[in-house]
Amino acid sequence: MSLVLVIFLTFAACYFIRAKWPVFTVGRRIRGPWALPLVGNVQMISKLKPESLFKIVAEFRAKYRGTYRLWLGPELWVFLHSPAETREALHDTTLTRPVAFQQLSVLIGNGLLISHGKQWETHRRALSPAFHANILNTFAPVIAQHGEELVRKLRATEGSSVEVSDYLFACVLDAIVETSMGKQLNSLTDPHNSYAHAFHKTSELLFKRMTNPLLALDFIFQHTNMYRELSASVAVIHQLMATVIDERIAALKQEESLISGVITAPAEEGIRKQRRTLLDTLLTTQIGGEGLTRSEICDEVNTFVFAGVDTTTAAMCFVLYSLGKYPAEQHKLLTEIEEQLSLGAELTAEALNRLTYLDLFVKEVLRYYTVVPLTGRQTTSDTVIGGRRYCAGITLWIDLYGLAHDAQYFDKPDEFQPLRFAQTQKEHLPPYVYMPFSGGPHICIGRNYALLIMKMLTVQILCNFEVNLRDPHEELVLQSQMVLKSLHGFNLMFRQ
Ligand code: HEM
Repeated sequence: MSLVLVIFLTFAACYFIRAKWPVFTVGRRIRGPWALPLVGNVQMISKLKPESLFKIVAEFRAKYRGTYRLWLGPELWVFLHSPAETREALHDTTLTRPVAFQQLSVLIGNGLLISHGKQWETHRRALSPAFHANILNTFAPVIAQHGEELVRKLRATEGSSVEVSDYLFACVLDAIVETSMGKQLNSLTDPHNSYAHAFHKTSELLFKRMTNPLLALDFIFQHTNMYRELSASVAVIHQLMATVIDERIAALKQEESLISGVITAPAEEGIRKQRRTLLDTLLTTQIGGEGLTRSEICDEVNTFVFAGVDTTTAAMCFVLYSLGKYPAEQHKLLTEIEEQLSLGAELTAEALNRLTYLDLFVKEVLRYYTVVPLTGRQTTSDTVIGGRRYCAGITLWIDLYGLAHDAQYFDKPDEFQPLRFAQTQKEHLPPYVYMPFSGGPHICIGRNYALLIMKMLTVQILCNFEVNLRDPHEELVLQSQMVLKSLHGFNLMFRQ
């Protein structure tokens, strides 16, 4: 028996080594920290908290000054270095999302964030018009209403020190859910909202799983409590989506009948007043003469909420932190607002476009804190990037944070200087170094949407409060949205 086992294990090991040999060959030629046999650098990585993981990535970038590798057991992770390699990777159509991204599929199915090939291409083309400026501009009044609610909530804190990320999360979630699905959640006014709670829990659990290599295998993960908790939260989200889709289909049908004259005038007003949401665009989209299926629609809307809420919330946290940290910037922004916007007038997208310093400030916040510090790609066949040949089965990481802090491209990268994005200085910036929203064909589809929300909320807060850090010496050294969550943000005081 034991002989059979030994033979079996020997065959399995030979098969494994043969299958992985091309990956070992690539990995051997790339510099990186010393790796233990079999486990590689897993020991070092799995012990780290997420915030330390990003610190290590920055340290290795500085140490190797070029592309480097980590071994996670037999898995090879390569961290790309230069803008040229980054551009090649972002445009390489043979690359897909990293395998770990598939763990998101419980929530977002095969939505834009993880789909690839033909499906990604056709959906991306079909969904892009939903983010056109003409549509986004109509979202401004909805976002402004949620901003006013946020101001009311902050005013109620009467200048005491608050953990601001909770308020911002609820506000951004309400704004994105209403503009993408047409549903009023009111999670800012109702802290027990079940969808908000489920959404928060789901992103937290998905992130925990993605950063824990021990939970990577479905077979293991499905036997954990975390899996049961995740399934329960996802069910709440999917249930709400199903109801919202039914309601919108019914409303659109009614609208159609109305246009063809089947329904009479009184109903017309109520329906016509409804703003077009991203969901409406999805419901009416045709690809090759056919509409999207119900599950495709559900996946894409969940993707928008998942990809948009945490990122925009984190970005807004960094905006407020920077206002507290740099009072002179706060003063400059307020002066611009007073000069450019008329008192009491409605805050529109067009009015926001007049605030040129706000634009520079937001750009610098997104550089300095690079909300999404890394993004990944998976090789699926032989390909060449930066002159180096890669085989299938390797994860390539694109270091968006590292590039945004590279002294080769940014003068004094560790200083907060919005003016570096003023026209004259911006001209010296090579492409593929400043990419808060990534680049190439997968560039964030919601970037203008996020900027609209960020600018709108910043102006509303500045018009109502002076933002102070509770402890002016408090340093926010960590750059990731996920880190921000795990750290519990920071405290701000809002004085009228
Ligand atoms: C400050 C806020 C945001 C940041 C920093 C951000 C960042 C990013 C980045 C870096 C990527 C590209 C990942 C890659 O290349 O692999 C991305 C993709 C994406 N983002 Fe955003 N995002 C933000 C807000 C939003 C919003 C508000 C939405 C939607 C409503 C959104 C929807 C998406 C989607 C659907 C993708 C996948 C695009 C594709 O692969 O075609 N994001 N985002």
